[in-house]
Amino acid sequence: MKVFIPIFFSFFILGLGLIPDISSPKKVKPNEKISEVLYKLGDETPNHFLRYPSQKEINLGRQLFHEGFASKESGRKAKRLSKHFVCTSCHNVEKEFLDLSQNDAQKRLDYAAQNQLPFLQGSPMYGAINRTSFYNGDYYKKYGDLVNVARNNLREAIQLCAIECAQGRELKDWEIEALLSYLWTLGYEIHDLNLQGEDLQLINIALVDKNKSAQAIALIKSKYMDHSPATFTAPPSSFKEGYNLQGNPENGKPIYELGCLHCHEGGRYSFLDLDKSKFSFKFLHNQVDSYSHSSIYQVGRYGTPPRPGKKAYMPQYTQEKMTDQQMEDLRAYIAQEAAR
Ligand code: HEC
Ligand code: HEC
Repeated sequence: MKVFIPIFFSFFILGLGLIPDISSPKKVKPNEKISEVLYKLGDETPNHFLRYPSQKEINLGRQLFHEGFASKESGRKAKRLSKHFVCTSCHNVEKEFLDLSQNDAQKRLDYAAQNQLPFLQGSPMYGAINRTSFYNGDYYKKYGDLVNVARNNLREAIQLCAIECAQGRELKDWEIEALLSYLWTLGYEIHDLNLQGEDLQLINIALVDKNKSAQAIALIKSKYMDHSPATFTAPPSSFKEGYNLQGNPENGKPIYELGCLHCHEGGRYSFLDLDKSKFSFKFLHNQVDSYSHSSIYQVGRYGTPPRPGKKAYMPQYTQEKMTDQQMEDLRAYIAQEAAR
């Protein structure tokens, strides 16, 4: 009997350990889409919900996004979405933060530098389908009533961006559906949320126990931001004095290389051709306090005026995409390189 009990108990304990494995089809996997888990938990689906976009549409959408044109029927010539830009001119398709629950501009820059990602004015399209509102904050100041339809509608947000931001033509319905299908492949995945053991356990339990689903849904949603905040800010009142912050040239370097050069190197999307020559830095340095449209303060904070269809324009950097401190860091880097 004395021997029997421990053996019996160890079988019992082993058995307990096996229980979660028996229900493993209900366990979340690291690469499972958040949207799918929320769906299974019974969360309300957004109006842009596409559970199983077709591979054909995804491929068309990817081509539209990265190359700027695609034709639905082979052999037909495709018309470019924009003469000036492709979507990747201003948006990454990669994740831009390790911790998706915050929106710190310096963390975004550090992450971009670590992963050699462009540092751009637009929010990443990774996770766009997980957001519930678009053109947030001050964007209504730029696009007025156009924002109203796009605020809570991703299809309209894509259309608005194609026409206004990318200075292109109106998208056809199939093009919007294709772009949306592609965006559905870029949704957040479970591993992106860096969930701890207990959190994962709650989600796994909630997948079989409906009483826990509200709690699990709230937990998941607390781990990422459901919108990209946008705060417009003005250039400093004196361009000479700048924002009165000590600039750090080392931090300005990745801003220049991953931000400015993304569009200006070799005149990629702009007539202004910038590189890492002394000539480029001297030009920018001389213009900093000139109060002209070539000052980094002017273009950084106001961009250049978009005239639909005409010349390519430069979008402004909101405070969330470049802080005043980062602007001074950029200035310090330009000054340092111009003096070399
Ligand atoms: C010249 C720059 C530029 C180009 C080109 C561009 N966008 Fe944008 N887009 C922006 C900016 C700036 C915003 C403002 C909101 C943000 O992204 O934070 C924006 C917003 C968006 C939003 C809403 C994002 C949000 O969370 O508020 C979507 C969706 C979008 N763009 C899709 C596209 C698609 C699809 C294309 C290609 C057809 C495209 N964009 C091309 C600059 C651009
Ligand atoms: C998304 C693409 C993009 C990014 C990123 C970008 N620019 Fe621009 N920039 C443009 C476009 C387009 C113009 C319009 C000028 C033209 O081509 O005629 C422009 C214009 C400018 C001008 C004004 C030229 C003039 O005299 O009219 C300056 C200066 C400038 N950019 C500097 C910068 C700096 C500095 C950065 C980095 C902080 C930067 N740009 C980032 C696209 C970009």
